Parts: sequence; structure tokens; C-alpha cells
Amino acid sequence: MNQEINHEHRHEEGEGDRACLSRRRFLLFGVAGATLVALDSVPGLTRLAQAMVASYPSQKVGSLSALKAGEPLEFAYPYPDVHNVLVKLGAPAGGGVGPAKDIVAFNQMCTHMGGPLVGTYKGNHQVMGPCPLHLTTFDLTRHGMVVSGHATESLPQIVLEVKGDDIHATGVMGLVFGYADNTGGHA
Ligand code: FES
Repeated sequence: MNQEINHEHRHEEGEGDRACLSRRRFLLFGVAGATLVALDSVPGLTRLAQAMVASYPSQKVGSLSALKAGEPLEFAYPYPDVHNVLVKLGAPAGGGVGPAKDIVAFNQMCTHMGGPLVGTYKGNHQVMGPCPLHLTTFDLTRHGMVVSGHATESLPQIVLEVKGDDIHATGVMGLVFGYADNTGGHA
């Protein structure tokens, strides 16, 4: 278990190098505290993604019967200021839930420099973007992988579970921009 959990927020640290060090430390030591999930669409990413999944209390974020393809729903998780989108892609996706494995959720802050991705979902290609700052686009069928642009890290994916008709968020795969780690609470 990571004994160096800290709840520093990158903005509050005010020093990029300290934030980078914390981020690196999380990547190195966060594995033991992680929840392992099946990533069946991108085998090459499996080990890395497993090392970056953190569990949080389950929270209902939508329902199978109400969610329509092409009509994303926004929700906050695991903290009130972390804004995500729940979307039915209409095509099977890595980490997808529901009968067609096409329901996914992602954070809406670009992993490059935190650009806002709200409203940039493109249902015809199942991508998020381009980011308004430097044009990164993320593939939502492949765990938020970067398709093009300046970002180098995938968009954080919200881990989902289906319980009856309810869709629950249970964890976060990857680091939300601005956070030094995602294994603990909010600073
Ligand atoms: S902040 Fe999104 S590409 Fe730079």
C-alpha cells in the first residue's frame, strides 16, 4: 500500500516540479492500492492503466433506461469540482458497461494543460475534442487515448458498474489534471 499518500493539490503546491514528483511517486507506488479492471480493447495499455486506477465510494451517475446515444450526461465524481461526462457511444468501448458495452465516462479536463473539454464530444467518431487550447482529441472507445494534439496522457476514465438499471461510478483510471495523486482525498 502506498504509504506516501498525500492530498496535495497541484494548484496549491504552486511548484510544477513538486507536482511532477508527486505524480511520479503515485505512478510508482500506487499499484498496491489500486483496483484492477479488465481492459480488453487495448492490451498494450493494460499494465499501465491497472497501475493508475483508484477506487472511490460508489455513486449513481445515471440509468440504462434513460441514457440515450449521443446525449451525454454530466456529473461530478469523485469530488464536487471534478466534472465528467457519461456517454452511450453506440459502439463497444474499453471499459464500457451495459448490454452493448458502449457506456463510458470520462473526465472533461484536458490532460495537457487542463483545457475545458465540455461540449466537445463528437458522437459520429466517439471522440472528445479537439481541446480549445491546443487541439488534442481523445478516443473514448480506447480508454481516452490521445488521437492527435499536444497531450501525451489519456483522458482519465471513470470506472463504471451496472447494478440493475443503475449506472454507478466506482473509481478513476488515471490522474485528473491538477491533482498530484488520486489515491486519497481532496486537499
Ligand atoms: S490544454 Fe488541451 S491540448 Fe493543451
